Amino acid sequence: MRIAVFISGTGSNLKSLIDAEKNNEFNSSINLIISNKDAKGLFYGKGANIPSFVIKNDNEILEKLKEYKIDLVVLAGYLKKVSDVILKEYENNIINIHPSLLPKYGGKSFYGIKVHREVFENNEKYSGATVHYVDENIDSGNIVLQEKINIQKFNSPEEIQKEVLKIEHNILKKAVKKIEEEK
Ligand code: GAR
Repeated sequence: MRIAVFISGTGSNLKSLIDAEKNNEFNSSINLIISNKDAKGLFYGKGANIPSFVIKNDNEILEKLKEYKIDLVVLAGYLKKVSDVILKEYENNIINIHPSLLPKYGGKSFYGIKVHREVFENNEKYSGATVHYVDENIDSGNIVLQEKINIQKFNSPEEIQKEVLKIEHNILKKAVKKIEEEK
């Protein structure tokens, strides 16, 4: 599959995918990177010579997806809702990584450290990460992979975030592999 990765921030999940491709952990190739702003993570795309674009308009993004013959879109810390324009064309071919055990701590107000703050304040025993298909609602599509850890020994939302991020980096590449095998 030809993959496009969408980011908005640090891009550590993008980096984990770039590394996984280099290490032949899946057969697909990352051919395009899209960001809705001048994200820090664009740096990783430049290092790997992957065409990267900052585009805010979903019609223009769709044109790029077609131009680069993209099969699968991976939302990796992309904090903008993907509109119907893209969803219609890429139905069942867009996945997202989310830093919680969905359906818990998902939805509009749950992203980044906010998720971990809520999880911490609620004294949850477990947290984790989820890769899921993207549908018209936020964080609600079918789950591809999910992995959990016991977080009782952690003393802050930041500690939980650090450990959950390690899980994210691991399951995102495995999700790509799983989707390849299912195609
Ligand atoms: C990741 O933790 C990702 O799960 C989260 O943003 C972070 C991006 O980190 N996404 C969401 O919260 C989406 N609702 P990264 O830029 O270092 O990959």
